[in-house]
Amino acid sequence: MKVISLFSGAGGLDLGLVQSGHTIVWANDNDIDACETYRNNIGNHIICNDIESINLNTIPDADVIVGGFPCQGFSMANKSRSIDDERNKLYKYFVKVVSTKKPKYFLAENVRGILSLEKGEAIKAIVNDFEKIGYIVQYQLFNMANYGVPQTRQRVIIAGTRKDVNNTFTFPQPTHTKDDWINIAEALSGIPEPSGENDTIPNHIYSKYKITNRNFTGHRRTDPQKPSPTILARGNGKGGVCAIQHPNNHRRMSVRESSIIQTFPLSFVFSGKMNSMYRQVGNAVPVLFAKHLGIQLMECEQ
Ligand SMILES: C[S@@+](CC[C@H](N)C(=O)[O-])C[C@H]1O[C@@H](n2cnc3c(N)ncnc32)[C@H](O)[C@@H]1O
Repeated sequence: MKVISLFSGAGGLDLGLVQSGHTIVWANDNDIDACETYRNNIGNHIICNDIESINLNTIPDADVIVGGFPCQGFSMANKSRSIDDERNKLYKYFVKVVSTKKPKYFLAENVRGILSLEKGEAIKAIVNDFEKIGYIVQYQLFNMANYGVPQTRQRVIIAGTRKDVNNTFTFPQPTHTKDDWINIAEALSGIPEPSGENDTIPNHIYSKYKITNRNFTGHRRTDPQKPSPTILARGNGKGGVCAIQHPNNHRRMSVRESSIIQTFPLSFVFSGKMNSMYRQVGNAVPVLFAKHLGIQLMECEQ
């Protein structure tokens, strides 16, 4: 199917959709580094600009619109969450593009916190917004480890099918259970220690942010026998990014290792300074999970 991608970032979601046979006809992000990464790895169709300055008439028609709208306003890490948060205006842009382009399907990714925001009223309001513009809406919380991703990342997918379309989108069934989750040591086996800026493995550089063992996100020891904790995009409060500790707990994971946990292929090279690359990786939908979503979209066309 033809896909429009909003808030595309480095393109984790888009790459999974391409791998499952779809064509991204138009993409947008306002981050220069993410756009460069996207262009080099996925295609030249990304427009690097603020979504608010895009003339909607310039966006081509498509069967599907996807997007992970920025989630700070919805994030559990943000104590003052509200649907009226200024940053949620980007969500409203997503609704506007869907209501203008009227694709058969849309998929929107967000953090788990969206479900409890305003005691569940926010997600109801979101569903209502899409129903009003003609969509059957479903949403579900997913643990990426259940789909073969070596990470216990939890994310919500909101899926819409235009009411006049025969085949309603259905969510992918898990491929793994807790008994056969892929652990972080397994995922990183065969990746040698970084050897510096000129490493032959691209993006194999890492944050020197100290290793700790406090009961706090990003500061715990990593258990090599479990999937990785969520690869983070947010900062460490000191201008750096809070990379997860390597399973040997002797340093933080490199950008490359973090991207492997996000199921990006080794050939996918990130652009920008180290913190920017970590952010692009942490922001992404794991490629393998995106591929499962893409397979479900393919089913709709059968
Ligand atoms: C959660 S990330 C999306 C990641 C992407 N789905 C992936 O799989 O790689 C959200 C993206 O929204 C972009 N963004 C934030 N504000 C924006 C704006 N005003 N216009 C366009 N893009 C914006 C950010 O640069 C970021 O890359």
